[in-house]
Amino acid sequence: MRKKVTVVGAGNVGAACAQYLAESNLCDVALVDIVEGMPQGKALDLLQAGPVRGYNVKIEGSNDFAAAAGSSLIVITAGIARKPGMSREDLLNTNIQIMDSVMAGINANCPNTMILVVSNPLDVMTYRAWQKSKMPKNMVFGQAGVLDSTRFRTFVAMEMGCAVSETQAMVLGGHGDSMVPLPRYTTVGGIPITELISKERIDAIAQRTRDGGAEIVKLLKTGSAYYAPAASTVLMADAVLNDRKTMLAASAYLDGQYGLKDVFIGVPVTLGAKGVEKVHELKLEKSELEALQKSAGVYKEIIDSLPK
Ligand code: NAI
Ligand code: 2OP
Repeated sequence: MRKKVTVVGAGNVGAACAQYLAESNLCDVALVDIVEGMPQGKALDLLQAGPVRGYNVKIEGSNDFAAAAGSSLIVITAGIARKPGMSREDLLNTNIQIMDSVMAGINANCPNTMILVVSNPLDVMTYRAWQKSKMPKNMVFGQAGVLDSTRFRTFVAMEMGCAVSETQAMVLGGHGDSMVPLPRYTTVGGIPITELISKERIDAIAQRTRDGGAEIVKLLKTGSAYYAPAASTVLMADAVLNDRKTMLAASAYLDGQYGLKDVFIGVPVTLGAKGVEKVHELKLEKSELEALQKSAGVYKEIIDSLPK
């Protein structure tokens, strides 16, 4: 029997996730949103694209979390997105309330299901989802590092004039201005970019990566990026559903690693059928570790200020 993924929030990111999940023939999809008729309409539209696009999965839209029952994974994209001038942290108050109501729906209908969070501010929302869930820490995680890394890869490929497939990148830390692109672990054809690109240009590319979300918000004016976020999310869903043991950056619970405790933050993990199966502790240079700890500190402070 095909597995099922529920995508909560059928807006830009959620609908693109549903589309990529279906186009990969990865799983059946349930789309859940509070707007009446909208998830049903998008689900029907996506179903009708199947004969042309060559997929054959069930896609159901609903305003009721009962549709999530039987899922192997819940992807949470519900929440407001940034408009020009807003930081991801500006979304906090509204999105915490949305997350609490989403978690109530999940707990009532599919309490033992793995959770992949996308809503912003990502690292705080992932903590909140875990806090309100009934799941062990490894079964709740957040998507940001794959997106930030794919942005870094894109800019490196543009700089080098090479195929994006030749690049690998690692971006750690929180999904915000304090994220930590790691040039030493970013390669083209297996060679670290520190050997290939000047420090000045690497710094500029790393900064464009940090500003990657804001650059798109400024262009779109009415919302934030969704194609690359959804593609990144579906890569993680695939790693879980197919037990791929993929090594990627994800927002994961830390219990002492990197000198950090009781916080979700972007770190390299192995992602498979059991969720976060391992957190990898890289031997970071002093400045890299300090940057990661500083980034985690930003989110820990917000987490500690949340009502329980
Ligand atoms: P959107 O506004 O297009 O869609 C959000 C959807 O959530 C709306 O359809 C809304 O009706 C729904 N929603 C609100 N409350 C709900 C509830 N209680 N239950 C179910 N659905 C509910 O926004 P978009 O562009 O899809 O972004 C969604 C979230 O993802 C935002 O918080 C955004 O900042 C975040 N995001 C995170 C990224 C990441 O890499 N982690 C990348 C891109 C966006
Ligand atoms: C992004 O980085 C808004 O978090 C979203 O595009």
